[in-house]
Amino acid sequence: MIGDFSIHATDGQARLGELHTAHGIVRTPAFMPVGTVGTVKSLCPQDLRDAGSQIILGNTYHLYLRPGDELVARRGGLHRFMRWDGPILTDSGGFQVFSLSGLRKLTPDGVEFRSHIDGSKHLFTPEKVLDIQRNLGSDVMMVLDECVPYGADHAYTLKSLDLTHAWAARSRENHAPGRNGQLLFGIVQGGFFKDLRERSAEAVCSMDFEGHAIGGLSVGESTAEMYDLLAHTAPLLPAHKPRYLMGVGKPLDILEGIEHGVDMFDCVLPTRNARNGTLYTSQGQVNIKRAQYREDDEPLDPACSCYTCRNFSRAYLRHLYVAKELLSYRLNTIHNVRFFLDLAAGAREAVAHGRFEVYKARFREIFQPAEA
Ligand code: GUN
Ligand code: ZN
Repeated sequence: MIGDFSIHATDGQARLGELHTAHGIVRTPAFMPVGTVGTVKSLCPQDLRDAGSQIILGNTYHLYLRPGDELVARRGGLHRFMRWDGPILTDSGGFQVFSLSGLRKLTPDGVEFRSHIDGSKHLFTPEKVLDIQRNLGSDVMMVLDECVPYGADHAYTLKSLDLTHAWAARSRENHAPGRNGQLLFGIVQGGFFKDLRERSAEAVCSMDFEGHAIGGLSVGESTAEMYDLLAHTAPLLPAHKPRYLMGVGKPLDILEGIEHGVDMFDCVLPTRNARNGTLYTSQGQVNIKRAQYREDDEPLDPACSCYTCRNFSRAYLRHLYVAKELLSYRLNTIHNVRFFLDLAAGAREAVAHGRFEVYKARFREIFQPAEA
């Protein structure tokens, strides 16, 4: 049934699961490539399928502003509009309003903001962002939340948290479990205070959401701080529902999340870094613009079976990058997205066979020095 989440194996706190959505099953742990404006930048849906994507992300904030959620609804929803027939998760817009738009005002009712495109004024309420996500037809909708900035003090974070919880309650009231086959996930906030993370987990997890997200991490804190909060928060979320760590992260961050029982991840790193020439390989990070690749005829990553690595040399990828050719974006993105999807697929395999710790240790050896 849509919304069902079944767990098929565990290894420590790590889990192998399946989430049922209206557009198919998502095997977890899962990485979700980010398609902010209705496209994973430079890729076609066929590229995404070839790379092994199960589910992609879209953004309420961006699609509402352009081309407009009602325009998308008139074209049959986001799946039909962009020709991606797999599951889509949409973020609520809360995070994007706080990170992108100018001038914003928080009220108990919602958040007022100005568009980063034309400066026009808008209001997001918990109900409004669900209307938008219903127009888009996303399979997994997120509630409106406030992601408190890094460094916010206890008093501010507590006040924000009570608002986020009131919004979460209004969201559940507005969207009954199972409505339209669209799942609704709650978001746990609480900044960098463990007592507030506990308070948030208790409140949000009592509201009968189909899944729970951990928000407010990867906002400027150190890796050690993020891991500490993650380890504290993840076990507070009910084990029988999917857990989603929002906006995270680097390969090692994702493995850290999986180790603590997180099932879903999204991050712009593979796509954004592809466009600035930073590529992830089984030997670590490669900066393809470096002169050492000028006449290197090897594939980018001999261990990778993506379209880019099966067909092109490092010398060619370097040339495309240096010449600022459009194909550079596409070939680099195909590879990086594949790397993150393979990372998650390998984790599923490892959890199934009870060797996740060994799997993670291998990546730590490769990525620790480069990511310090
Ligand atoms: N993406 C990354 N972090 C967050 C968060 O805290 N809230 C929301 N809504 N989206 C996010
Ligand atoms: Zn590749």
